[in-house]
Amino acid sequence: SSPAPILAIESSCDDTACAILDADGTVLADTVLSQAGHVPFGGVVPEIAARAHLAALPALVRRTLDDAGMRATDIGAVAASTGPGLIGGLIVGAGLAKGLAVALDRPFVAVNHIEAHALTARLPGLVPGGAAFPYLLLLVSGGHCQCIAVEGVGRYRRLGGTIDDAAGEAFDKVAKMLGLGWPGGPAVEALAREGDPAPWPLPRPLLGRPGCDFSFSGLKTAVAQKLAPFAGDALPRAAAAGIAASFQDAVADIVADRVAHALEMMPQATLLVAAGGVAANGALRARLTALADAHGLPFAAPPLRLCTDNAVMVGWAAIETIRACRALGLPAGQDLDLLPRP
Ligand code: KG4
Ligand code: ZN
Repeated sequence: SSPAPILAIESSCDDTACAILDADGTVLADTVLSQAGHVPFGGVVPEIAARAHLAALPALVRRTLDDAGMRATDIGAVAASTGPGLIGGLIVGAGLAKGLAVALDRPFVAVNHIEAHALTARLPGLVPGGAAFPYLLLLVSGGHCQCIAVEGVGRYRRLGGTIDDAAGEAFDKVAKMLGLGWPGGPAVEALAREGDPAPWPLPRPLLGRPGCDFSFSGLKTAVAQKLAPFAGDALPRAAAAGIAASFQDAVADIVADRVAHALEMMPQATLLVAAGGVAANGALRARLTALADAHGLPFAAPPLRLCTDNAVMVGWAAIETIRACRALGLPAGQDLDLLPRP
């Protein structure tokens, strides 16, 4: 008989998500709720996030089972993100998942959230021909910004990462300065489309430096300086659009330069993968496609729904973990400590 499906929960930030996957990785149901309660605050409030996960998860799990046409007793294992992330939400999601595993007498599989992002590209059918190891992962979201050498299941090398803000955080802060809503990335990208960046030159921190660390805080400060003369006055639309375009160009330049260095640090890479909300940015995707091309590599980014936080990636990472454990003769269920965001 084929192994039973896996139910996965994701609650590490502001997305409450549940998914059910077949043992071979086929997605049977996939639900995500983006919490709206943070909008008035212009960013994720950890306490609000934890409470919202607690309020939403039971009904969401129910709905996901219904979508898959299943009962809880059909589930063979339960997985959850156990970090890194906001500790309150992690406790809620992992607590519910563990409770379910205990009640069903099934293994609980703890999944590292970054590992889940890192393995998403390997979901069956996502990348033409499959994403074979080793590949370079650029993870750029509101909470993460790093280059990871993905060499196998459980074999990751962090090549570099941000020394201050995450890329998405920078987009969100610049959006706020420009008077755009939250989350800011899509709003900045839309405004940048009509802007001329030329009159608004901005710095590119760490460009050309060895390694592949990122820094965005100087760029953010430079944007604030460009905006200072307008303090108190309405910001002309052309200026806002120009600054948005210049900022986006700077981020694309920085990321492309850092990823180029990461590729040099990982000559064995056979593929470049981008994931995280910022990987939705068209200007950035175009730059990464060209960069991979210049290195003779294919470029892949999971569809947006799987780039941003979701539970499918958690279920898939659990399946990969279970397979890797079996191959080593280890039990499938594994339990790790919760890992708050460092
Ligand atoms: O992966 P994600 O949904 O959540 C986590 O942070 O884990 O990423 C959200 C981030 C936000 O900062 C948002 O502003 C940014 O991704 N983002 C974008 C775009 N869409 C979302 N940044 C730039 N361009 C976009 N089109
Ligand atoms: Zn994430």
